[in-house]
Amino acid sequence: AVRRPLVLANWKMNMAPDQVKPYLATVLPEVEKDEAADVAIAAQDLYLPEMLSLTASSRLMLSAENAHWTDDGAYTGETSPKALAALGVDYVLIGHFERRKLFNETDERVNLKTKAALKNGLKPIVDLDEDLSAYASADPKTVVLKQLALALDGISETAMKNVVIAYEPTWAIGSGEAASAEQAEKSAALIRASLANLYSPALAEQTRILYGGSVTTKNAADFLSQEDIDGILVGKAALDPKQFLELIDIAQ
Ligand code: G3H
Repeated sequence: AVRRPLVLANWKMNMAPDQVKPYLATVLPEVEKDEAADVAIAAQDLYLPEMLSLTASSRLMLSAENAHWTDDGAYTGETSPKALAALGVDYVLIGHFERRKLFNETDERVNLKTKAALKNGLKPIVDLDEDLSAYASADPKTVVLKQLALALDGISETAMKNVVIAYEPTWAIGSGEAASAEQAEKSAALIRASLANLYSPALAEQTRILYGGSVTTKNAADFLSQEDIDGILVGKAALDPKQFLELIDIAQ
């Protein structure tokens, strides 16, 4: 395939400090056995330095769950994308549904944060969410495609090579009720067509689009076998290192 699959665990605000090392001890040796898919974990900032040192010689990559839109300044409690990049973090989630819904993350901020991440050499994973009413309405994809265009406003085609898109139906996040693979594929295909319009067919062809929302070891293969789905963004199921390994296995 043109696009290498990406299996991304999002720990969210889970995991106790003493769980980090055992989790990685289970996952790291297995991750090296097959290299057909990229593998990454998004974790709370305060775990990232320890995780960076534990994964120094591993191909497993790390992601922050959020970052500010400026490099530094008087922003108490925020995380600098410049600092994340200096530490050696690879990815950053931008505009996750929980950030948008619970922390008032606007499309404008998603755009600024995406640009700041790119400027610092981080790879942003730009999250688009879709609620059930949007899905059920006559023009179901307007929300997602609008979010896409606003998030990427002013971002060049060259910079886009480092951007990953994640599509998450809000009703599927943490609910145990995933979208069907067909529904998810339909949305991913629309996102890809929109990227072709905004940039070029070549760029659209290269961009990875992930599906997220109640992915499990049971349904992952269905999502990953879809033409336009290039990876999975996994919350709950990936909190168990054994299940995370199984998901990686399914993606290879
Ligand atoms: O970032 C991950 C998604 O929000 C999905 O979470 O797998 O627990 O539904 P979930």
